[in-house]
Amino acid sequence: MSTTLSTVPHVLCAEEPLLPVVGGDLQVPLLDGSTVRFANLDYAATAPALASVAERVARVLPYSGSVHRGAGLPSQVSSALYEAARRSIGAALGARADDLVVFTRNTTDATNLLASVVPIGSGDVLTLDLEHHANLLPWHRAGDGHRCVAHADTVDGTFERLEAELRRRPVALLALTGASNVTGELLPIRRAVALAHAHGARVFVDAAQLAPHRAIDLAAIGADYLAFSGHKLYAPYGSGVLVGRRDWLDAAEPYLAGGGAVREVTTTAVEWTTGPARHEAGTPNLVGAVAIAAAFEALGALQPEARETHEEALRQRVLDGLAAIDGVDALRIWEGDGEAIGVVAFAVDGYAPGHVGAYLSAEHGIGVRDGRFCAHPLLARFGRTAGALRASFGVGSRAEDADRLVEALRRLVEEGPRHAYCDGPAGWVPEQDPRDLAAWTGLELGLDTAPATRSPCGNG
Ligand code: ALA
Repeated sequence: MSTTLSTVPHVLCAEEPLLPVVGGDLQVPLLDGSTVRFANLDYAATAPALASVAERVARVLPYSGSVHRGAGLPSQVSSALYEAARRSIGAALGARADDLVVFTRNTTDATNLLASVVPIGSGDVLTLDLEHHANLLPWHRAGDGHRCVAHADTVDGTFERLEAELRRRPVALLALTGASNVTGELLPIRRAVALAHAHGARVFVDAAQLAPHRAIDLAAIGADYLAFSGHKLYAPYGSGVLVGRRDWLDAAEPYLAGGGAVREVTTTAVEWTTGPARHEAGTPNLVGAVAIAAAFEALGALQPEARETHEEALRQRVLDGLAAIDGVDALRIWEGDGEAIGVVAFAVDGYAPGHVGAYLSAEHGIGVRDGRFCAHPLLARFGRTAGALRASFGVGSRAEDADRLVEALRRLVEEGPRHAYCDGPAGWVPEQDPRDLAAWTGLELGLDTAPATRSPCGNG
């Protein structure tokens, strides 16, 4: 009998992290005065740096100089490293020979860049209502030229709606997420590409969640553009990437006007350069680029499908655990049991999401995200305008993290929290919190600890 991901026994899977991450054994203080290893279940927001990425950055820093702007040797080394990072990232993504790899700050920045280069008059931009705001708001600038399609209850139904829109009026770009940042569900990108290309439209993949969790072969998928962030790809040093077709990028006005994007400037005129530099004005982020390249190297050295197997074991462990707790519901976009990355969204009856998030952190040392996950339209479709909770995993996660979450939620539902919490000006917090973040970290945090202003509940 073949073994599918969901039938892999939990006990054999994900007991240990796949790769070491910085802070993987961080001890955090709890309200009761004890400490516990931090269970980081918020990889979908910002993943920790891989240890190998941090080591690479430390190796590079002594040689750090001005990229493309200096005569000194560190500048030459830095320019070489930066361009080598660009090439190796393109190769890791399976970019086509003529694709450009443009460094950006993050996925949001990359999507705004792409929105600025879609040729005027080439057609509309189509998105789905399940997108992260980063793949919705930049397209709002297209005004009537942006159509946001309501997803159906099934993948097939959703594709029927997309096809109807593609037939209705010319579409320049279908902009879709590769994996939902809320539920982790994967979108069938090859199918979207085939559909869009059949109607003369290009495809942009918001791979902010996909790239950290799946190997990507852009040429094989056939998507025209793809973007992701270093901070979700175990390389949190302030860079992201937009990769894709050269023609729109070379023809458009530069995204940022400034040094490095030009061939010639007079006091009144400019001749812009072409290629990635056209959209990378200002001094490039060497460390961010090197870190992303190092992350792809480390992830690429894993066994094929190691990430999928690891995360699926953790996801199923959480889903099975939540299913056994009354009043805890996991959220899904589509009917059925389609594939997903290591992300689980859920809600707990009778508790505000922020209350649960504060309880998990303060009493169990577990970090999740609560709220609407920069996906307000999708949360509205779920009928969760007050938000939900999300647990997300990555290569540094382990089975114990999943088990601790499930056990903490079981105790919440059966026994309630042991401490009192309030919904204060900064969100849900413990009413009494003796923990001192500056003392814990030894860092100068600039927090106001004066008793008169310290009440977290807004009544001090
Ligand atoms: N986009 C990040 C998330 O989904 C911040 O949490």
